[in-house]
Amino acid sequence: MPEIRAVITAVGHYLPENRLTNSDLEQMVDTNDEWIRTRTGIKERRILKDEDKATAFMGAEAAREVLEQRGIGAEEIDAIVLATVTPDYIFPATACLVQEYIGATNAYGFDLSAACSGFLYALTTGAHFIEAGQAEKVLVIGSDKMSSIVDYTDRSTCILFGDGAGAVLLEASDDQTGLVDYIHHTEGDTNGALCQPGGGSMNPASQETVAQRLHYIKQDGRVVFKKATVGMADVVTEIMEENDLTADDVEWLVPHQANLRIIDATAQRVGLEREKVMVNIDKYGNTTAATIPLCLYDWKDKLNHGDNLILAAFGGGYTWGAVYMKWGMNQ
Ligand SMILES: CC(C)(COP(=O)(O)OP(=O)(O)OC[C@H]1O[C@@H](n2cnc3c(N)ncnc32)[C@H](O)[C@@H]1OP(=O)(O)O)[C@@H](O)C(=O)NCCC(=O)NCCS
Repeated sequence: MPEIRAVITAVGHYLPENRLTNSDLEQMVDTNDEWIRTRTGIKERRILKDEDKATAFMGAEAAREVLEQRGIGAEEIDAIVLATVTPDYIFPATACLVQEYIGATNAYGFDLSAACSGFLYALTTGAHFIEAGQAEKVLVIGSDKMSSIVDYTDRSTCILFGDGAGAVLLEASDDQTGLVDYIHHTEGDTNGALCQPGGGSMNPASQETVAQRLHYIKQDGRVVFKKATVGMADVVTEIMEENDLTADDVEWLVPHQANLRIIDATAQRVGLEREKVMVNIDKYGNTTAATIPLCLYDWKDKLNHGDNLILAAFGGGYTWGAVYMKWGMNQ
């Protein structure tokens, strides 16, 4: 256990105003509201329409809210760790653009690519800088403009994703609240079950890659669903056992929002009733790196100082993991 513990001291968010409802999708592909709601739990998602705005803009807006809430200036930030699979550009990193947007002149920053587990990986990375005494204030951001890589002719994926951003500030805890433990896993053998094949160094952008629609998300839904259901439930069980926690000890499960059925299966496996599970997938869909901080934002006024939270995610890579933290705000 580190001597210094990293704790979340502010939570911000950004959601575009434009809503894409299930009935809108009915006009675009062969689907229906009932199918989407019962198979995924999603009713609508937010879509960033402005042509001159992307992932960095949303991340910066979420970061601005964090700074305002904490009452500090951007120049006090030491580092920015930004999780995304939809960077504004392949390079420079989106974190650099956020640094410029908010004027965090003393911060260094970089992006972290771990798909739907991105925020959890970024959170533990940022926490290590605090625990090592190397940084006092770290911005951890999850931001994704999923609409930029969603194929709106593919009914099996276009119903799932939305745009949004969430951000937290990490600082050293002066009580025993904060990040207690984490478990992360990676399994690279996915056989292309969840990926964006085009635009990287394997299939650089060309007329052929565009014609083959390789710049969009490809997902074998059934395969990923099974892996995600087992992976999320296993890792939550693992972190609770490792920390001698029973369902009674846990105030909140904060799951990645990919599919309500995956969330329910995870909660059931560890015996957590629905009232203790944060669910906002109905409003925002799967915003990839943003789902967990958006949950923390939506629930922040209901959380009590010292509450035990288990954060859990599963995503492309495959990547998955869980974080056990004691909530440090609302003292
Ligand atoms: C994508 C997902 C919602 C599909 O749900 P599912 O219950 O697995 O559905 P299936 O893929 O088995 O498809 C069932 C049927 O519905 C059809 N279908 C697929 N999308 C549909 C849609 N939007 N509307 C109506 N029917 C649809 C399929 O074609 C299939 O028809 P068939 O039986 O005639 O072949 C689900 O698999 C899922 O959530 N996967 C994991 C997502 C995830 O966690 N990603 C990782 C983190 S990002």
